[in-house]
Amino acid sequence: MKAVAIREFGGPQGLAVIHTPEPSPGPGEALIHTEAIGVGGVDTMIRSGAYAAYGFRPGHILGGEIAGTVLAVGTDTDPAWIGQRVWGFTGLGGGYAERAVAPAATLVPLGPQLTAADAVTLGSSGLVAHFALRRAPFTPGESVLVRGASGGIGIMAVQLAARDGASAVAVTTSTAARGHRLRTLGATHVLDRSGHDGPDAPAPSPAGYDVIIDVVAGPDLPTLFTRLNPNGRIVTVGTVGGFPPADLAAPMIAAFQKSLSYATFSADTVPQAARNAATTDLFTAAEHGTLHSVVHQVLPLEQAAQAHRMMDDGEVFGRIVLTPTDN
Ligand SMILES: NC(=O)c1ccc[n+]([C@@H]2O[C@H](COP(=O)([O-])OP(=O)(O)OC[C@H]3O[C@@H](n4cnc5c(N)ncnc54)[C@H](OP(=O)(O)O)[C@@H]3O)[C@@H](O)[C@H]2O)c1
Repeated sequence: MKAVAIREFGGPQGLAVIHTPEPSPGPGEALIHTEAIGVGGVDTMIRSGAYAAYGFRPGHILGGEIAGTVLAVGTDTDPAWIGQRVWGFTGLGGGYAERAVAPAATLVPLGPQLTAADAVTLGSSGLVAHFALRRAPFTPGESVLVRGASGGIGIMAVQLAARDGASAVAVTTSTAARGHRLRTLGATHVLDRSGHDGPDAPAPSPAGYDVIIDVVAGPDLPTLFTRLNPNGRIVTVGTVGGFPPADLAAPMIAAFQKSLSYATFSADTVPQAARNAATTDLFTAAEHGTLHSVVHQVLPLEQAAQAHRMMDDGEVFGRIVLTPTDN
């Protein structure tokens, strides 16, 4: 079968299309004929070599989020999965391939109205956004700022906050065009990356927020504490802007009388059953049209390097999806 592996760490040119034997499902696993493969930020990090210390080596097949049809299952796995269209999570590798193995525990069936591309756009990103809002915790009527809203997680956080009754959903983005698209998804206020209103803002953004979902982190993260209302909460889910300064707690403690909270959130901490239930809800909402998947572009699997170039260049709004050409 065809797959895309890291030939050498570094830029996207280090990715190579390879021919490799089809994997076979072990106990508790399912073999999936992939129709759609999500390209995640973590894939570009692994490709760059930034995670080599975690044991990734050249030859590694990238990709974790897939959707397709179950072809076979291993021992201790319900054979009823065979023939079903599913979303699955392989972990941190094995997904950029015509066939991939995922733990059966991660599988979520796809409804007839949901495309495989939609599933890999909504699945992981929606899960992170959903549980990050729960971790805050966000309650209807509160104001929300989504920092780094143009990626998969941010787009889902905007939609979920708007759908679930936020009084305002502000977003940070680098371009007016993206701001316009985010408004169509539920954003009420569009800010620049530093969190200020653009010159053409139709109305001033809220003076403070109850909840900030932060995909960016980076050196400017402490400035967010000044943007919180009393009892305000920040949840950092990503570090696309780098790591924050070591004295991150100082501004929070300086604003002691506002009772502010800071948390990080990783979907890895959510029990599998809760993840599957949330993913099922997200897929159902998409089928009913109350959530929208934003697919930036669908590319053939062989063009994974091009997908990574677009990711590296910050061109992507939403998700790039790879699709094997044997479909
Ligand atoms: N918590 C979890 O469980 C979990 C799971 C998966 C991934 N992640 C993490 O989530 C992050 C990726 O999320 P994603 O795919 O939604 O994001 P993304 O697409 O990589 O980035 C989101 C947006 O942030 C803006 N941005 C990029 N660099 C920036 C900077 N230096 N300063 C300010 N804004 C910047 C860009 O939008 P504009 O150009 O419009 O500003 C970009 O589209 C990674 O850090 C990944 O490790 C977390």
